[in-house]
Amino acid sequence: MYRTKTCGELRLADVNCEVILAGWVHKIRKMGGMTFIDLRDRYGITQLSFNQEVDANLCEQANKLGREWVVQVTGTVKERSNKNPNLATGDIELIVSKLIVLNPSKTPPFTIETDTDGGDDLRMKYRYLDLRRTVVRQNLELRHRMAFETRRYMDEHGFLEVETPVLVASTPEGARDFIVPSRMNQGEFYALPQSPQLLKQLLMVAGFDRYFQIVKCFRDEDLRADRQPEFTQIDCEMSFVQQEDILNIFEGLTKHLFKTIKNIDLPEFPRMSYADAMKYYGSDKPDIRFDMKFVELKDLTEGHNFSVFDSAEYVGGICANGCANYTRKQLDELTDFVKRPQIGAKGLIYVRYNEDGSIKSSVDKFYGESDLRAWIDRFNANPGDLLLILAGETEKTQKQLSELRLEMGTRLGLRDKFNYKCLWVVDFPLLEKDEELGRYFAKHHPFTSPKPEDIPLLDTDPGKVRANAYDMVINGVEVGGGSIRIHDSELQKKMFATLGFTEERAQEQFGFLMNAFQYGAPPHGGIAFGLDRLVSIFAGLDSIRDCIAFPKNNSGRDMMLDAPSKVDQAQLDELGIMIKEKK
Ligand code: AMO
Repeated sequence: MYRTKTCGELRLADVNCEVILAGWVHKIRKMGGMTFIDLRDRYGITQLSFNQEVDANLCEQANKLGREWVVQVTGTVKERSNKNPNLATGDIELIVSKLIVLNPSKTPPFTIETDTDGGDDLRMKYRYLDLRRTVVRQNLELRHRMAFETRRYMDEHGFLEVETPVLVASTPEGARDFIVPSRMNQGEFYALPQSPQLLKQLLMVAGFDRYFQIVKCFRDEDLRADRQPEFTQIDCEMSFVQQEDILNIFEGLTKHLFKTIKNIDLPEFPRMSYADAMKYYGSDKPDIRFDMKFVELKDLTEGHNFSVFDSAEYVGGICANGCANYTRKQLDELTDFVKRPQIGAKGLIYVRYNEDGSIKSSVDKFYGESDLRAWIDRFNANPGDLLLILAGETEKTQKQLSELRLEMGTRLGLRDKFNYKCLWVVDFPLLEKDEELGRYFAKHHPFTSPKPEDIPLLDTDPGKVRANAYDMVINGVEVGGGSIRIHDSELQKKMFATLGFTEERAQEQFGFLMNAFQYGAPPHGGIAFGLDRLVSIFAGLDSIRDCIAFPKNNSGRDMMLDAPSKVDQAQLDELGIMIKEKK
């Protein structure tokens, strides 16, 4: 037997028991004639104790060990004289009688500690060592428990987990595909699925009724803190349902996860239309941990010869409570913040509503006290508040104001990671116009159904058509999204036509789906959650990378496997692929 106990389980009740432990040497401390070793495994740390005076040879052996060596020890559990309240096993130690080195280790390139000295790249290169760190391991344990509780909930609600293929066909729309060349069909390619969207719809045609899958998806898009090229979805689809049924089941899943994993009882999730989300928060994923809604001022600002406002399509702002005493420097910082190229505002206008009731603004030249008081009234501001105002083209300005709102929320400490506020955003527009290309794209995907009452608008004003589509947002992060699907092949044809597909191209790309719809497709809909995002929100992480065992870096590289990498010429020849020389 390699071990009789783990390094995390010994307690006072085990005193005087003889046990065998195995694990990694975490730390060695020599104090006079004593040597103490922290032995670590997945379950915890146990202190081993060696006494020079009791067994000089054994102590000598212990002194020769290095960090991360793998050892097996036999010994007797004793109560510690100086207990360590920070350690679950801190009341005891193991008086070692036998030590066997199972494997020595090179000195690791960084310390295996919560506050490690290893930089990002180094830790990614040696991810198997990084994963030994308790904080990283705990994220993966959390991920396991969330996946497990998801499966339990889905099973209890009659969902079948069905695996769908990883080698599929490339489809246009959406992000870029990762493609895989076919040796047996030279010149042809598989694509890795961006999501199992079409396959899960076919499972509904097949009568599976309730499907789910915890599934890898692949998207060749620019990476950010909440995006990886391969990520995991909790992908779900249901038949004979309306939007309300889906929202209920998956609000239930989210509540189940919060309850079982974090013991948090969440209240009913509020719902907000996409139109309101944009109007009041300038974002389709508003962070509702704090209020600070946008207030529009355009009508109050006109006729004062202030060209910035007069020429703007939109004038709006936020009210930062208690910030009227911001210094010049703080206001300059905020101005610089909104003028950064990523945000792109031309400037920032402020109105201080001072504690003593006086008003001071950066546009005093154009607006008198009574004008500014009308603005303050509209904001419902109190003495001590600061109004921050942006102006310009509506959509752009709302986006800029959204960034400013989040920045102010952060500055004012209103975005506590562990204060969870969930929200459904509903009634997304069906289509989005690409002004440059002059054509419409599906906002969600081409299989999302329009709201029945908006269908006539498809012919007259497609941009106005609302979809039966919804996102779940937690603390300003889109954790899931889905829709009720089109199940009628005629409507699907019409949708493809609106998206500019010729009938031939629609048939070529999606013929299998449209054909399947002719064989009795039930009304259906679904949703997919980003598991990585959910886990990182539960863990309070800044990046989803930290809850993925082997993530890619920001340039899409796996630093440990050194992927992507070149392949042999012979392999390329077999696939019939010629690599163009780089100029
Ligand atoms: P969507 O594209 O909105 O919908 O994706 C669903 C959820 O997946 C997560 N997600 C990602 N997570 C990490 N890295 C990425 N690159 C990434 N891209 C998306 C997000 C998102 O909310 N088939 C539809 C779902 C449906 O209609 O049922 C779909 O894939 O949390």
